[in-house]
Amino acid sequence: MKDRIGIIMAGGKGTRLYPLTKVVNKHLLPVHDKPMIYYPLSTLIRLGHKVIYLISTKESIPLFKKLLGNGKKYGIKLYYKVQNKPKGIAHCFFLLKKQIKNKKTTVILGDNLFISNFENLTSIINNQGCTIVCTKVRKPQHYGVVNLKNNKITSIVEKPKKPTSNLIATGLYLFDENLTKHLNQLKPSRRGEYEITDVNKIYLKKKQCFNYNLKSTDYWYDLGQINDLDDCSTLLKIYQQKRELNIGQLKF
Ligand code: G1P
Repeated sequence: MKDRIGIIMAGGKGTRLYPLTKVVNKHLLPVHDKPMIYYPLSTLIRLGHKVIYLISTKESIPLFKKLLGNGKKYGIKLYYKVQNKPKGIAHCFFLLKKQIKNKKTTVILGDNLFISNFENLTSIINNQGCTIVCTKVRKPQHYGVVNLKNNKITSIVEKPKKPTSNLIATGLYLFDENLTKHLNQLKPSRRGEYEITDVNKIYLKKKQCFNYNLKSTDYWYDLGQINDLDDCSTLLKIYQQKRELNIGQLKF
């Protein structure tokens, strides 16, 4: 894991949380006792990433720098990259093409919070191809829906009206070192963004797209909406009080 490049996507306008995010970047909002960004960052650090790029807007990067610095105090190298327009999650691969060339890469969405020890993940991810961290949810239509046959991915459909499975892609994706070679196949979607689902589909075509399912005792939150943000803060409070854990801590 230590040679993998980590990428955190922390841009966007966060319009679904307005007015909370009108002047504050969503990823800096509090989630229980820490800013949101601590959670995905701590996940990448716990998974062993030593070089991490944080992608955000020109306005927000100085704030992230003030909060997190160059990563030295967390034992990592933390770099920052501006994304001028919200051009989609997969746009990060174009922004960091030079840095990730021939390197294994992990992408995590800045509003994704995991409570998991990712059992066996490290042994799986050295495989060729890409691995999508998946989980089951009640409302799959809001996410990238993953269909399996004999435990292998047969299709990934972005926010389908009628989902045929309740297994979905979380915002944690692990790619092999061939990623940049596939970028010329990628076109902006109808909403004008480079979709992460389209990257996964390229790997799927080559039969190299794998799923890693979270355990039923794990937790995963996409914190893009107020109810999830509230619920997750409450959960962390209860969880941490009971078990003396410190979810999202950056020093290990
Ligand atoms: C993105 C992905 C989607 C995934 C989700 C997880 O959606 O496109 O496939 O299930 O993240 O958080 P977004 O939240 O950007 O709409």
